[in-house]
Amino acid sequence: MADDEEAPPEVHHYNDIHEVPWDIQNYWAQRYRIFSKYDDGVWLTDDAWFGVTPEPVANQIAAHLVEGAPTGRSILIDVFAGAGGNTIAFAKSGKWKRVYAIEKNPAVLQCAKHNARIYGVENKITWFEGDCFEILKNQLKDLAPYSVIFASPPWGGPGYRSDTVFNLRTMEPYSLQKLYDEYSAFTKHVVLYLPRTSDVKQLAKTAPDNRKTTVMHYCMEGASKALCIFYGDFNVG
Ligand SMILES: C[S@@+](CC[C@H](N)C(=O)[O-])C[C@H]1O[C@@H](n2cnc3c(N)ncnc32)[C@H](O)[C@@H]1O
Repeated sequence: MADDEEAPPEVHHYNDIHEVPWDIQNYWAQRYRIFSKYDDGVWLTDDAWFGVTPEPVANQIAAHLVEGAPTGRSILIDVFAGAGGNTIAFAKSGKWKRVYAIEKNPAVLQCAKHNARIYGVENKITWFEGDCFEILKNQLKDLAPYSVIFASPPWGGPGYRSDTVFNLRTMEPYSLQKLYDEYSAFTKHVVLYLPRTSDVKQLAKTAPDNRKTTVMHYCMEGASKALCIFYGDFNVG
């Protein structure tokens, strides 16, 4: 372990496949691709395994923002921090004066803080426990002119694994439209991390008229893992 803090009961660091619940075993087998420093004592809740952005993908997204973030934007707000996959990559990239990370599940937030310590970036991050929509409106609104929002929402709802085209209208608990409306009311510079099979027609409907909106696939070992849509003045791709 990186330190001697106590993990909440729902947080684990599995060392042996025999300890790992069956539905997580495939993820655990890829643990070093998810967090290269896994053996330093990375913490995850059982649910967080399904949503964490693998480290090479998180690093690539962070690198694209180093090169292509809009000028004058020095704050990155990761509104769904989860166990810290993206937050850590953004903090490591050295691009941002400050990274703000919001997570509503207290145990998952503790994982993110702990994992950020393992990666030596905890001092670059300000953490918030709670609902990102409320926190943006009530606590972070003064930062809006300097901020970029990154959002990796839960991909719940029908069909993420089974459907050839993922319906972003029925994505749960937040539809694409809800995410777009909430975040674009805060800043026009927004990046959403979505399933690789996301319906491109639905994405196009949210793109502002006469503005370049980039969609980028992120691949590992020759297969797309996910895509990002960049709204605003990004220079990526
Ligand atoms: C897909 S995971 C994020 C994974 C993260 N990018 C990572 O690499 O670890 C989505 C997270 O959003 C959190 N969440 C859901 N609704 C939220 C809300 N309204 N405000 C803040 N966090 C929320 C969930 O608890 C979950 O941990």
